[in-house]
Amino acid sequence: MNPSSKLNSQPKVLDSPLLFTVRAMNKADAVNIVGLIRDSYGNSYFYKQFYDPGEIISANEKGYLTSVVAETNDGEIIGHMALLRTQEDYQVVEPVIAVVKTGFRNRGVLTELAEYLYIRRKPELFKEVTGIYIPPVTSHTFSQKQVYNSDFKDCGIWLGYLPDAEFQKLNTTHSQRISLVLTYLYVKQPKRIIIFPPQYHTDMIVKLFKNLGVSNITCRMPHRHLQNYLKSESIVKIKESLSLGQTIVKIVRPGRNIVDEIKAKLKELCSKDISVIHLYLSLNDPSTYYLAPEFEKLGFFFAGIMPGSACKDALILQYLNNATIDYTKISLVTDTAREILSYVVKQREIGLTEIKEVSKERS
Ligand SMILES: CC(C)(COP(=O)(O)OP(=O)(O)OC[C@H]1O[C@@H](n2cnc3c(N)ncnc32)[C@H](O)[C@@H]1OP(=O)(O)O)[C@@H](O)C(=O)NCCC(=O)NCCS
Repeated sequence: MNPSSKLNSQPKVLDSPLLFTVRAMNKADAVNIVGLIRDSYGNSYFYKQFYDPGEIISANEKGYLTSVVAETNDGEIIGHMALLRTQEDYQVVEPVIAVVKTGFRNRGVLTELAEYLYIRRKPELFKEVTGIYIPPVTSHTFSQKQVYNSDFKDCGIWLGYLPDAEFQKLNTTHSQRISLVLTYLYVKQPKRIIIFPPQYHTDMIVKLFKNLGVSNITCRMPHRHLQNYLKSESIVKIKESLSLGQTIVKIVRPGRNIVDEIKAKLKELCSKDISVIHLYLSLNDPSTYYLAPEFEKLGFFFAGIMPGSACKDALILQYLNNATIDYTKISLVTDTAREILSYVVKQREIGLTEIKEVSKERS
């Protein structure tokens, strides 16, 4: 954990003067951070482990989280945010656990936490990092606004990704799983990318990379048949969370049986009541051109792109297992996010129609 430091962070004076400082967390702050989580979410926060101050301390000591807090001049902890970096996706980081105490909101606290944590970017936290991704909730638009103010750009919509959480005092009424808008900021902008997008998603994928600022995008079609690109064994990384009702499957290297492997995994996950499954495929791998449509036949549909993941420039597909989504409850700020949402919804509907037709033919 970084030692407590008030360097580089000046107290901020606002209209109604709220003087506060942003600094790295101390072990002693952990209890107050849990207090902030309870203040925002009651007992309904998605990541239950962070109700334990010891977990926050240990995650910071291991370097998996880097937490910063906002402290008033009276010594009250009023805000927290952390940078999450996993070994699996060491080239991307995600700011998480963004909470500001009720009574201190809409006064720039989140904005200052972000400034300290990932706008100024201490080099030691961003070694080998390609980009930063933030998937703000769409139950309200406050975090989206802050993210766009920091130059993040839209690159996906994740439907029903999180279980319902009760946001305290934000006047949000939702009784369905929460959808997120995926946003991204390159730390190291590539000069050129070469990708093999499935044909019918090419326009959307190119549009999203351009939206992230990549100007030189070469889209290729594979020269050879699918089998030529598959290895004998697949390498697939799976992160399953029963409490969140979600599973993330990353195809790092597709093997000859990859479609059957994913089919079997899907069957197993659906029987366990997993509500949402994300599938990452590398757009830099020619096999993705062929494989994405195969997975879409299983019910996966377009979710977005994620540069710098374990699958490099990833295409993300999503699968909803009986999760009903009321699209009218998704609050978005930008036109691009709205456009991605309609694309995603359309893709989901096309998939559902095709699946119904296939089952009709079989019966
Ligand atoms: C979301 C949250 C962290 C925002 O913190 P904050 O310190 O109030 O945010 P800021 O004051 O820095 O404002 C960020 C943006 O949201 C806007 N905003 C914040 N609260 C607002 C309110 N009540 N009404 C209108 N706009 C609001 C600000 O105006 C600002 O946008 P702008 O710069 O375009 O004007 C805080 O509301 C919170 O803790 N919510 C509960 C937990 C949560 O939802 N976390 C985020 C999960 S993705």
